[in-house]
Amino acid sequence: MASKNSVAIINEIQRKALADLASVSSIYELQQWKVFYLGRNGKLTSILRNLRTLAPEDRRNSGIAGNQAKLLLEEEFNSRVMEVEKSSISSKTSEDSIDVTMPGRPFPSGGLHVITQTLREVCGIFTSMGFSVAEGPEIEWDHYNFEALNIPKDHPARDMWNTLWVDFTDEEGNHPMLLRTHTSPMQARIMENNTPPVRVVIPGKCYRFEATDATHEWHFYQIEGLAIDKGITFADLKGTLYEFARRFFGEERRVRFRCDYFPFVEPGVDMSIDCFRCDGQGCKVCRNTGWIEILGAGMVHPKVLAGFGCDPKEYTGFAFGMGPERITMLRHGIEDIRHFYTNDLRFLEQF
Ligand code: DAH
Repeated sequence: MASKNSVAIINEIQRKALADLASVSSIYELQQWKVFYLGRNGKLTSILRNLRTLAPEDRRNSGIAGNQAKLLLEEEFNSRVMEVEKSSISSKTSEDSIDVTMPGRPFPSGGLHVITQTLREVCGIFTSMGFSVAEGPEIEWDHYNFEALNIPKDHPARDMWNTLWVDFTDEEGNHPMLLRTHTSPMQARIMENNTPPVRVVIPGKCYRFEATDATHEWHFYQIEGLAIDKGITFADLKGTLYEFARRFFGEERRVRFRCDYFPFVEPGVDMSIDCFRCDGQGCKVCRNTGWIEILGAGMVHPKVLAGFGCDPKEYTGFAFGMGPERITMLRHGIEDIRHFYTNDLRFLEQF
């Protein structure tokens, strides 16, 4: 290659390269341009690589011209990159384009229903005290829902639970199946498969044939508790439920037990906490009494224990049942139980 020729060729490449560069409008095209002219096998690089085959004088002139062209093209390339980047950002901010700097739309994520949260929290408190958790059927036999709990057929105590019967009759024409009216039938089911010591909580859905209003639903949850062992006393019942109340409603809570009647316990009680809104002074939440009832409980009735196969002279136990909707309403100041199950996201999303 003659040196005059080489210098001319270099100048020609440079001219062509600059013209091409001016018409390049994207980063992708810029990269292609760079490979074509300045890349390892690019036009200019090839010429520079072959310089050593020229005569010394030619080599010098072509070398100078080649290196100058290389520097110039690199400089022009860099400034063109900046121009192209700038114009692509400004075009992105124009009206009909996407603004890549905007924060993304939040991904709509689900959450646990507030009652599920309560169930888990309550079960968590009891498991930390050594209880296990069990679940059972919502369609239940009369036997477990009533008979095994000392509520015989035609006994007036059945009126305490307005029952939804399942349309199924046995040979005698009775309806022995129902939607469980409470979680207490699980006491008998647990005792069929376990021997004391037993400590268990049972969360689950219950049903009653009742008109709904602000404090009643025809379907709702309960959490049942059962502890059976040798030497369990009423003090154990009080201590356990007192600890639960403090953990769920706050360290300062005081509790009150009053006699109540449930056929499957003796003595039976209801437990109240002092009102956390007014600290027992009297307000709307506690209906000016200073106390709020939160659950029913008692010492398992000797007849019921015997039915479980436990000798009442040897074993004793306590049981309790609470309504998670009620304690959730108290905690959050919710005034109508029907909010929980009407699926209004404005309500549900608050928790
Ligand atoms: N099952 C009762 C109800 O639905 C609540 C209850 C009261 C459960 C006393 C118990 C208990 O285990 O000992 O009204």
